[in-house]
Amino acid sequence: MKILGIETSCDETAASVIEFFSGNTQVTLLSSVTATSLALHARTGGIIPEVAARSQIHDIIPVIYEALEKAHSSPSPTVSRPNIDAIAITYGPGLIGSLLVGVETAKTLSYIWNIPLIPVNHLFGHLYANWIAAHNQKSENISFPAIGLIVSGAHTDLVLMKSHDEIVWLGGTRDDAAGEAFDKIGRMLGLSYPAGPMIEKLAREGNPKAFRFPRPLMHDGALDFSFSGLKTSVLRVVEKIKNPTPQDIADICRGAQDAIIDVIITKTLQAAKQYNAASIVLGGGVTANQTLTETLQQSAISQGVSAKIYHPEKSLSTDNAAMIGAAAVFHQQKQSWQRIVANPELYFD
Ligand code: KG4
Ligand code: ZN
Repeated sequence: MKILGIETSCDETAASVIEFFSGNTQVTLLSSVTATSLALHARTGGIIPEVAARSQIHDIIPVIYEALEKAHSSPSPTVSRPNIDAIAITYGPGLIGSLLVGVETAKTLSYIWNIPLIPVNHLFGHLYANWIAAHNQKSENISFPAIGLIVSGAHTDLVLMKSHDEIVWLGGTRDDAAGEAFDKIGRMLGLSYPAGPMIEKLAREGNPKAFRFPRPLMHDGALDFSFSGLKTSVLRVVEKIKNPTPQDIADICRGAQDAIIDVIITKTLQAAKQYNAASIVLGGGVTANQTLTETLQQSAISQGVSAKIYHPEKSLSTDNAAMIGAAAVFHQQKQSWQRIVANPELYFD
């Protein structure tokens, strides 16, 4: 089956066509197109919802048509309906204006093309980025139970995936999301938004012993997170230094990144041990951080955690529509367009 995925929950406008052959364990990527309004948000140091939604209104149709064309599924003047079996649409969580652009477009296309619609939770999407076969590679069979870690600009959650049909939330952040912590710390240091990639780069030059920032809740035994104390602690250091040199900035980046990664890894491996996980699947923009993925692999080995660790390639770790199509393959609750409503507060059940 072929699915057209559409994703507009935050500042990206994305569409993708994926294909799934029964008997396979992963989906094949046929096209993935993303338009972003990041350059506009970099100027303001964060996302302005109205700006994001306006740019999505402009981008949505060209992005969908490009994704269909690249997958050779395009509607042409002589073919009124594209060669796809379902449309998968992110219906939450996210910014309401942004969600509405994608949801209402998907509903309209579903109606005029008479193609079923599958509503997808954006958070599930991040996990299912791991079920997209890497280019030219054979399908992986990810075993359950799996621990899912979602670390993005808006979310930090740990879930237990007993199967595709049973996904249980284990814990999440009590305040800032991990990506939000990277972005806010970056802002204090004068880095442009989103700061995660630059913090990772600068941290490579930083001295790991220069600053040791707090690791909130790290050893409390629960599976929740908190990053606001760390953020305040970085702010105090920044205020104290006043005119930081490039080396000071690199040292702060290193200290802050080490603290964030340390907490994420400790909690993820704790969950893997607690639930005897066969796999750990990572998703969300922060998993583009190579230091995080490499340190997690090393820590799993040193702590005797045998779960196989999966993370999406960089282009599929940040928001994209292929992950929405992939999630729809394994959660095929088709619904009539009349019943689908954008839900900014959607979470895990
Ligand atoms: O998943 P995503 O694209 O959007 C949400 O659903 O929120 O994640 C964006 C977040 C931003 O906070 C960004 O700073 C962070 O992912 N990020 C990174 C890296 N690349 C992106 N954080 C740390 N290291 C990176 N290399
Ligand atoms: Zn996301």
